[in-house]
This record gives sequence, C-alpha cells and structure tokens, in this order.
Amino acid sequence: MSEQKKDRLFAEQEQAISDFDFGENTAEVFDDMLDRSIPQYRELQRMMGELAGEMATPGSRVYDLGCSTGITLRSVDQTVDPEATLVGLDYSRAMLDKAQENLADQHASGRVELDEADLNEGVELHNASVVILNLTLQFVRPMNREALLESIVEGLNPGGVLILVEKVLGNDAFLNRLWIKLYYDMKRRNGYTDTEIAQKREALENVLIPYRPDENIKILRRAGFDEVDMFFKWYNFAGFLALKA
Ligand SMILES: C[S@@+](CC[C@H](N)C(=O)[O-])C[C@H]1O[C@@H](n2cnc3c(N)ncnc32)[C@H](O)[C@@H]1O
Repeated sequence: MSEQKKDRLFAEQEQAISDFDFGENTAEVFDDMLDRSIPQYRELQRMMGELAGEMATPGSRVYDLGCSTGITLRSVDQTVDPEATLVGLDYSRAMLDKAQENLADQHASGRVELDEADLNEGVELHNASVVILNLTLQFVRPMNREALLESIVEGLNPGGVLILVEKVLGNDAFLNRLWIKLYYDMKRRNGYTDTEIAQKREALENVLIPYRPDENIKILRRAGFDEVDMFFKWYNFAGFLALKA
C-alpha cells in the first residue's frame, strides 16, 4: 500500500474556491479523506466485500466503477471467488496510478484489470456478476445517470447485482438540514475544522449532486433492475442492492 498522507486540501482559507476534482492533489490524500469523511467507511468496505463474495460467480467479472485508489477492489479481492476477474474503471489517471501501486501483485497476476473510462458515456461490461458504484454515481451528471444504469443492466449476467452507495438528501427540508448538521459534527469529531468543512462544501456544490433514497430507487427500477433494497443507511448516506432477475 502507498503511504497514507493527511488530507489538508481545504485547510487554508482561500479567496475563491474552485470546483472539487480528482486530480493528483486529491489522489495523494484520498484514503485519509475517505476514512475521515465517510461515515462507517471501513464497515461499508466490509459489507461490500461480503455482498460481492455472496453474489460473484466463478469465471465472471466484478466491476468497480469509480475505483479511485483501489480500496474497494482490495476488499473484494479478499472475498470473491479466485476464478473471478476484478475490473476497476475511473476517469482520473492519478487515481488509477495509485490503484496500480496498491494492487501491484493482483495486477501482475491478472486478477485485477484497471482502465480509464468516463462513466458519463455509459459503460460496456462483459460477463459481469457484480458491479459496484461506491460514492461515484453522485458525480455522474444527472442527465447521464439513467443511461449509465441502463448500460449496467445490459452488461450484467442474469442474477447479477449492482451495489450502489451514495450520499443522499433527507426526505424533507428539516430532516435534510438535521442529517447535514450531524454529518458535519462527525467530520469535526474526525479532526476537520469549520474552514475545511465550509470550503469543501463549496467546492462540491456543483460537482456532487445527491438524490433522495426514493429517487435513487426510482431510477434503478426505471433503468431495468427487477429488485431493489437498501442495505445501509447513516443519516445522509445510503447503500442499495439492485438485482437483475
Ligand atoms: C468518491 S470517489 C469513489 C470512492 C471509491 N469508489 C471507494 O470505494 O472508496 C469517486 C471516484 O469516481 C471517479 N469519477 C467521478 N466521476 C467519474 C466519471 N464520470 N467517470 C469515471 N470516473 C469518475 C473519481 O475520479 C473518483 O475516483
């Protein structure tokens, strides 16, 4: 594993905040950012590994779309049938370079493949039993989300599943504000200052666009999934399992 550097990307007060991106500076500190910004991140990793282990079939392919530095691929590597191939796709070269470092052995043995792809253009899957979108669909432009999900349904084998984890909105304005307040309390407990929280919020404003849980379930069904259930919920974060019959 590459060395984990502390996330201080938004620590200095800036005059103007640029949109958040997944370039080199973010990739350098990303694992620490995930651990301190995503509630129950390690438990989510364990659950995704467990779910993928249950659902992946021998000889099939398990895809991680928006694989970043490869943390989820490492979880899945522990649990999924050794005869399955793991495929990580991301549009950030800097993230894929980190993933390559973190999964050097699995890459060398052919267990893991890594490739550049922009999910705004849909995705072409082959022989897929499990697809993971962990905190990534929220960054795909809303107008492209349903088409991406349709291309996932098309590429999944019968009985295949999508594991989707997203930041979500509350069902009404009051609950939404409460979830966000409690989320920022968690970030403070994890060492982020008010400046860091405020500046990151501004940077993400036009980039990360969350839906309510019912909106996510609706587009999953509209895209063609036959069964959808929620396997995880923490205030403004939710995990869904969507099944192709
Ligand atoms: C929040 S991170 C995902 C975290 C990661 N899946 C995990 O399990 O920890 C979002 C990732 O999606 C990638 N991404 C965002 N938009 C994308 C797009 N349109 N196409 C491909 N990758 C994208 C980013 O480069 C980034 O690595």
